[in-house]
Amino acid sequence: MSASRKEFKRVTVKSLVEMKQQREKISMLTAYDYSMAKIVDNAQVDVILVGDSASNTMAGHETTLPITLDQMIYHASSVIRAVQRALVVVDLPFGSYQSDPKEALRSAIRIMKESGAHAVKLEGGEEVKESVKRILNAGIPVMGHLGLTPQSIYKFGTYTVRAREKEEAKKLIRDAKLLESLGCFAVVLEKIPAELTKIVSEEITIPTIGIGAGADADGQVLVIHDLLGMTHEFNPRFLRRYMNLYDEMGAAIGQYVADVKSKDFPSDKEQY
Ligand code: KIV
Repeated sequence: MSASRKEFKRVTVKSLVEMKQQREKISMLTAYDYSMAKIVDNAQVDVILVGDSASNTMAGHETTLPITLDQMIYHASSVIRAVQRALVVVDLPFGSYQSDPKEALRSAIRIMKESGAHAVKLEGGEEVKESVKRILNAGIPVMGHLGLTPQSIYKFGTYTVRAREKEEAKKLIRDAKLLESLGCFAVVLEKIPAELTKIVSEEITIPTIGIGAGADADGQVLVIHDLLGMTHEFNPRFLRRYMNLYDEMGAAIGQYVADVKSKDFPSDKEQY
């Protein structure tokens, strides 16, 4: 641990802004259940995102669209029970905030009240401005999400890099500034050119958290299942796998099956 790194008993939205000011990079990972959240929190990850990627990783859906508000609250409350240090941010799922600001606020309040989470995240800029304002006015911290926004996948048509074109890049910069001016405490930048991440990160005072957005974001986020190699069919260029759990777990489980079949398990010492 570096000597300059400030220790936080509990990471808050304020700590994240301080980390940006002190040029300490922010670490963020997803978690969706109690056991994983305990490991992630113990490893000193600053922010735990209960992402709507749970729709893919936990439920096996192709997109993030099907997950419901009730399901997000279930995941978030399991995570909250495990966490002592990290800031826990929960995704507002598709359909829970886009139609009108009052509904957005009701959804955010349900997440905060029923799960005990510390903040919510939602996708978009100008389009969701009124919803962001409402939620912030109620005292709920909001994290933005720009670039590739998976809840709009059917509008984009693909999961390729966003904002390569000048107009889209300009809109993204405008949206990031707007989210900052509204009072968001951070913004996720997903799958955009590294150069654009650098510009945005320099032009706003709130932290940017990148995924596939290069080294100049103020922090990085990955989906825990990808980092651990539990998902093996997903191989984007930005992903660094730290383990190959798909194969390691498969081998361990295969060994268990073999031990049961061969009557090696349980042994004399493993029974009463
Ligand atoms: O749902 C999620 O996991 C996310 C991250 C990819 C940022 O939004």
